[in-house]
Amino acid sequence: MKKTYKIAVLPGDGTGPEVVREGRKVLTAAAAKFGFGLDMTEFDFGGERYLRTGELLPATAVDELKTFDAIFLGAIGHPGVKPGILEKGILLQLRFDLDQYINLRPVRLYPGVETPLKNKGPEQIDYVVVRENTGGIYTGTGGISMKGTPHEVAVQSMVYSRHQVERCLRYAFEYARKFGKKARGKADANTLALVGKTNVLTYVFDLWERTFHEVGARDYPDIKREYYHVDATCMYMVKSPEWFDVLVTSNMFGDIITDLGAETQGGMGIAAGGNINPNGVSMFEPIGGSAPKYTGMNIINPLAAICAGAMMLETLGEFKAAEAIETAVKEVTGTKIKSLSAGKMGYSTSEVGDLVAERV
Ligand code: IPM
Ligand code: MN
Repeated sequence: MKKTYKIAVLPGDGTGPEVVREGRKVLTAAAAKFGFGLDMTEFDFGGERYLRTGELLPATAVDELKTFDAIFLGAIGHPGVKPGILEKGILLQLRFDLDQYINLRPVRLYPGVETPLKNKGPEQIDYVVVRENTGGIYTGTGGISMKGTPHEVAVQSMVYSRHQVERCLRYAFEYARKFGKKARGKADANTLALVGKTNVLTYVFDLWERTFHEVGARDYPDIKREYYHVDATCMYMVKSPEWFDVLVTSNMFGDIITDLGAETQGGMGIAAGGNINPNGVSMFEPIGGSAPKYTGMNIINPLAAICAGAMMLETLGEFKAAEAIETAVKEVTGTKIKSLSAGKMGYSTSEVGDLVAERV
């Protein structure tokens, strides 16, 4: 009997459905080639549904999604809905309720892709950010008092428990051991760098730093440990990205530095991420958002969604299929596509999907 995975597909808003269609095309090709099945079920969660019904996620959504092997997401965000509602009510809600406490975001420059970094190529831009994904400022702890008066006060707290910090760090150490630069034959050591702000956030990053060294020294002595302040990290991501191997950081810092990272790998058209619950259901997405102005034009770049699909297969244990997709994407960026930007690829969205699917 061939193995069949149950995949929940959430195309979402804007260009989400277009890039998800190409992702599905490539995933289906990989499944046929490598002899496994994909049983895909689509859900209509997103802005259109919210505007039509007033509902963000049905009460049963999370329980239902828990019965799948993985979730493949397009994009959440709609110009007709006030910012924050869909993001918090759908995307963050799913990350939290499914306890996807890791956001894995590789920063990898593919062959033939233009980077804004001078004199840097695929050898130099090749690292991974492990972003904590369910804690920190994102928990929404805080509030507003005396609203509308001159004395109005707004508080939004950065909240971290030892449990949250430790499980994230352990994932990052394990990841560095398996997929760090030594494991990939590219350096003498696997290195995990903590990115923080110990010079100002002296409570939260004290907890992160103590846990980092304690867990690292005790359980991962083979992994080299480094520390960078987040502001300096931004500088080195531009100046010396080759210094990095695996980076681990808090939710908000990870959010910010991975947009910078995405830009250095050719932009949002190629950047993929995984919201991972190592013991549950994970969700894979292009990190670029819904790009409403390109909706329905068949010009958006689907490669980020396709790469998210490859990450999904890797997490499901279909390593050969994931690698085949990655190799196909590299061939397409290296020999076909002119630019990764929407409308400038030299091919339409569906043609890019075809190019990758044929090669898989
Ligand atoms: C991301 C996005 C989200 C985040 C938003 C849309 C809530 O920016 O996935 O990086 O901040 O995590
Ligand atoms: Mn972001």
